[in-house]
Amino acid sequence: MIILITGTPGTGKTTIAPLLGKTLKCPVIDVNQLVDEKHLYTGVDPEKGYKIVDMDALTRELHGIIINRKESHGQKDKNLQDQSCILIEGHLSHNFPLADYVVVLRTEPKILRDRLQKRNWKDSKIRENLQAEALDICTWEAYQTHGSKVHEVNTSYITPEEVINIIMEILSGKKSLPPGNIDFSDYLK
Ligand SMILES: Nc1ncnc2c1ncn2[C@@H]1O[C@H](COP(=O)(O)OP(=O)(O)OP(=O)(O)O)[C@@H](O)[C@H]1O
Ligand SMILES: [Mg+2]
Repeated sequence: MIILITGTPGTGKTTIAPLLGKTLKCPVIDVNQLVDEKHLYTGVDPEKGYKIVDMDALTRELHGIIINRKESHGQKDKNLQDQSCILIEGHLSHNFPLADYVVVLRTEPKILRDRLQKRNWKDSKIRENLQAEALDICTWEAYQTHGSKVHEVNTSYITPEEVINIIMEILSGKKSLPPGNIDFSDYLK
């Protein structure tokens, strides 16, 4: 089972993914860390300081990790549920074409602003990310690739543990949170 955890920076991917990984007994790949470790970028944007990620190289790297993991577990106990389970987290993770579930973490822009202001980012960078969140950019991109596999979880007023419970309900089929039910467009007015 491949689960992608995506969302605008600050929505909680790196907080949630390890907790979910523990609950599911499933390894977690942090895409940002992978990009750094394997130098999967072509340069750095001179104005914004963002790394320009080589998406093809990232996709190839993720494919390789998944195939290796399947092969190394294939010969062992085939009944173990977590055999080839993998969690991939990062705001680019939804570009990976293979997934069983895609969870987009969402946060109201006014709450997200508080979280991002703690990072000492430039105002312009914070604003850009709040706008992206208000415009549902990650959800829209994820939906274009993964359609009905995409679910949105609003983390604004709940704890990480509550987020995990919701995701577990999604994975067990008890809950469905398809895109289109979260509207942060007020922020843009
Ligand atoms: N319900 C919640 N779920 C997740 N994080 C929460 C929640 N409530 C508050 N937070 C806080 O929001 C922050 C989220 O930061 P985190 O680093 O996990 O975001 P991220 O999505 O991984 O960002 P980036 O894309 O920059 O890596 C943390 O400080 C976390 O404690
Ligand atoms: Mg993170």
